[in-house]
Amino acid sequence: MDRLAIIGGRPLFGEAPISGAKNSALKVMVASLLTDETLTLSNVPRLADVDMLMRLLAQHGVEQSFDNGALTLRARNITSTEAPYDLVRKMRATFNVLGPLLAREGKAKVSLPGGCAIGARPVDLHLKALRAMGAVIELDEGYVLAEAPDGLHGANISFPFVSVGATEHAILTATLAKGETVLSNAAREPEIADLADCLIAMGAKIEGAGHSTIRIEGVERLHGAHHEILPDRIETGAYVMAVGVTGGELFLKNARLELLGAAASVLADAGLEIIEEDNGLRVKRGGERCQAIDIVTQPFPGFPTDLQAQFMAMMATSEGVSGIKELIFENRFMHAPELARMGAKISVDGQTATVRGVSRLKGAPVMATDLRASMSLVIAGLGAEGQTIINRVYHLDRGFERLEEKLSACGALIERIKGEG
Ligand code: EPZ
Repeated sequence: MDRLAIIGGRPLFGEAPISGAKNSALKVMVASLLTDETLTLSNVPRLADVDMLMRLLAQHGVEQSFDNGALTLRARNITSTEAPYDLVRKMRATFNVLGPLLAREGKAKVSLPGGCAIGARPVDLHLKALRAMGAVIELDEGYVLAEAPDGLHGANISFPFVSVGATEHAILTATLAKGETVLSNAAREPEIADLADCLIAMGAKIEGAGHSTIRIEGVERLHGAHHEILPDRIETGAYVMAVGVTGGELFLKNARLELLGAAASVLADAGLEIIEEDNGLRVKRGGERCQAIDIVTQPFPGFPTDLQAQFMAMMATSEGVSGIKELIFENRFMHAPELARMGAKISVDGQTATVRGVSRLKGAPVMATDLRASMSLVIAGLGAEGQTIINRVYHLDRGFERLEEKLSACGALIERIKGEG
């Protein structure tokens, strides 16, 4: 297993290009199953998760080519309606093939998903939505067996709480269901509107994506289209926080401020200057250290759970005491003990972590536990005195494109050590 070695203490200067959003690309790729024509996507990040989904789509019969961010997908014929355990267990987004396979072929067998170990992460809301549209669903030996003997139909679906994945799954499926589907209490994350934009370009009728009520009028068929994936707001936030820890000045090419939601004002209150420029954001740290701020993770436009770990790394060396409440996932503080190995003063009580800022962390060997937690260790390492070794880097490869290359280009001392560890 590869490791990362970082020598901390150097401010970051230069330009870091922000890649296409992983969590949008993964859902938009699944949309290719809904048509026998070609879907061409641009600005697709080359990540382990994207490769994994490509493998799954290939075994459903999707022809594909990937060249320099341009991904072409064509599901001329669906050759298998089964998504096996081995391809679904590692990544939750793969579960979203269930509804599209069902909508197009009338049946599907999909393994229950895995993903980062950040909580129980059930799929009951996904199944509730599909059942409301007429799917007959059984669970058998870890698989979801679904059939739609009379086809799928529109439905009124009210989610008891906000789920990004269930909202996307319902939208994808409803595009080919007969009649109107109305989703209430839908997720409002920018990736939802990006998925809807792609589906609309394919001929779907969708109104309200990005709001909590979304209406989808089913159509007979969808056709090919081209769609550009929006920039990754979580990568953007992570690089902003890196500057919060190291100081310096970065231009984040392609980044968009509005995608940060509440995180933009939190970062500004913490002492980061984020300036909108043509085609990107410029980021500087106002003072010697950032200021402690309290946050609560919430669905968009609230502070994103996917930036909580990185924010904790930034708070570890900020001035004052920060309270961090994680309300989306029940087990998303695994980075806290790793940051503590580097000298961070963090106490965790249930869903709340209290971080007492210290002036400097010290490099140490640490373990990446999930994707965003791994990035928090990178950020901490960039600011720490001495060397940090991050084990289990494969987590980072799932979601941060060309990380070492981008950071090295901005002056960081970071390198990958190949092999065992
Ligand atoms: C998406 O996961 C993202 N993943 C996650 O990013 C992100 O943390 C999350 O949304 C919240 O923003 C992808 O887009 C691939 P949810 P998702 O359904 O869709 C519970 C990353 O690091 N729930 O909004 O799985 C669930 O357990 C990843 O890139 C149910 O109880 O998140 C959680 O507590 C990690 N039943 C809450 O809802 C369900 O049927 C929100 O989950 C579905 C969800």
